[in-house]
Amino acid sequence: MKKRQVVILSRQPKAVTDRMLSNFKPALCRLSAFILIAFSLGCTHEPEPWGTLAQEHKPAGEATVAVPRPVRFDLPVPQLSDTQKPLFYAGRALAQQPWVKAPTATTQRDGLGPLFNARSCLACHLNGGRGEMPDKAGESLFTAFVRISVSGLDEHEGANPEPVYGTQIQNQSVSLSSQLGIPPQPGELQAEAHVSVRWLEEKFRYPDGHETVLRKPEIVIRDLSNGPLQSDTMMSLRNAPGMYGMGLLAAIPEQSLDALADPQDKNSDGISGRRNQVWDPVSQSIRAGRFGLKANRPDLPVIVAAAFAHDIGITNALFPHQPCTQAQPLCLKQPDGNDEEGTELSNNLLNMTVNFVRDSAVPASRLGEQHIAGRQVFYDAGCQQCHQPSFVTAGLPGAEYLGQQTIWPYTDLLLHDMGPGLADGRPDFLATGSEWRTAPLWGLGLQRKVTGGRLSLLHDGRARSVEEAVLWHGGEAAAARNYFIQLPMVQRRELEIFVEAL
Ligand code: HEC
Ligand code: HEC
Repeated sequence: MKKRQVVILSRQPKAVTDRMLSNFKPALCRLSAFILIAFSLGCTHEPEPWGTLAQEHKPAGEATVAVPRPVRFDLPVPQLSDTQKPLFYAGRALAQQPWVKAPTATTQRDGLGPLFNARSCLACHLNGGRGEMPDKAGESLFTAFVRISVSGLDEHEGANPEPVYGTQIQNQSVSLSSQLGIPPQPGELQAEAHVSVRWLEEKFRYPDGHETVLRKPEIVIRDLSNGPLQSDTMMSLRNAPGMYGMGLLAAIPEQSLDALADPQDKNSDGISGRRNQVWDPVSQSIRAGRFGLKANRPDLPVIVAAAFAHDIGITNALFPHQPCTQAQPLCLKQPDGNDEEGTELSNNLLNMTVNFVRDSAVPASRLGEQHIAGRQVFYDAGCQQCHQPSFVTAGLPGAEYLGQQTIWPYTDLLLHDMGPGLADGRPDFLATGSEWRTAPLWGLGLQRKVTGGRLSLLHDGRARSVEEAVLWHGGEAAAARNYFIQLPMVQRRELEIFVEAL
């Protein structure tokens, strides 16, 4: 990241020099205030890198809501007027109610599939939050799916679809047998495959002797409908991330993100965040990427339209094709749910869903005095170098109320090389097989209340806790992880508790 170079003498070990200094500086300044060298360090006007508890209590500024009981992430930002709210709820209904197979009497809600991963957005984004990975081997994925591609590029320099199965494996079909989970009857459209994971466990031992168990998924694909995958197929398992606060992430000015990027690592801090450059089907041009786990979508309309088309099988103006390739004639033959606009979802309904995603509020943080120690560890470890704590938003056309907010998402929305442990080996536009977009941390701990106390963190849901997530950090984040593992257990816990309170 570009950061002010701070040149102070330090007794910190190599791993925590340079890039850490800027993090230590506030602490040094507080200390030095006592020994009257504050002046020589130039501390007098040094702002704290973090917000006050009161500021951070509202991670989305005025777009924050009190933590709802039961916890959910699909509530409207408080700024919506009484006339806007019904439209928000209409959008939520489109994201929540299951889509049905065509044809039906109500053309507004049909067109599911013919191949799909789930029947609605909120079936994966649970209460608007993250998804959940099954623990049991063989259990079908339900909030996650596997992206696939083969070597080479598509016509827009993006991932090259597998010639028969496309860009993701849809593990459901509209056929009755697929719904009943029985073998396909002759002439019925079969789901593309049964997809599950087998967890490979490994012990991790801290320098202080404590042990914990990590797990990583092995993708298990059986009952492929149209023969084997091409031999060079690359696979990437993705669990659903949260989809709240999206309008605020959309409202972060491009310049703020560009300013954080340091692709050549000019400041030699080991962290070289960069932006993806991706295809925008609306402007028919290449734009900076912002949404998706590899930042492969430029904005909310595109990611929502893509989700409709690929995850649920609902075609729309931006993605007008059914989720069938030319090599799947039976899929192509299924009835569609097209309306008079020639797609299954009108622009009007697409916009309503986009606005629901945009206007979903972020719940208040649970930060208090008891988290101050953990926050210090977060900054000392250098987590904030990628998990950029805060931004000031600019207005979004049509949602000016999301502008001028100081927000605390804890992400720079940039791609970082996270090392071989997290690599999926599947490039996506500029993102390499080991690069991922920094995950936002706001609201993370509340997810436990939605998923029965469990967490499924990181792109493939392998991490069951903040601790496990950090232990998987490598590549550009290796120094932060290495700092974490040498901490005493108490401080490791403090860090976890802080992150879960954001
Ligand atoms: C089958 C599960 C599933 C369904 C159904 C689904 N999603 Fe997702 N969603 C995901 C996964 C997995 C990702 C991450 C995908 C990636 O980046 O490759 C994601 C990513 C997103 C993101 C990006 C979040 C971010 O931080 O950038 C948004 C927004 C989103 N989905 C909205 C929707 C909407 C709206 C719908 C319904 C139209 C929907 N999703 C349907 C699983 C699902
Ligand atoms: C070099 C950049 C970088 C640094 C430094 C870094 N992270 Fe991350 N972090 C990421 C990226 C990228 C991801 C997403 C990785 C993935 O999905 O596989 C992530 C994911 C996470 C997640 C999972 C969130 C979720 O919703 O799945 C947690 C928790 C987390 N980081 C905490 C931390 C903590 C705590 C530190 C400091 C000890 C830290 N990170 C340091 C880049 C970084």
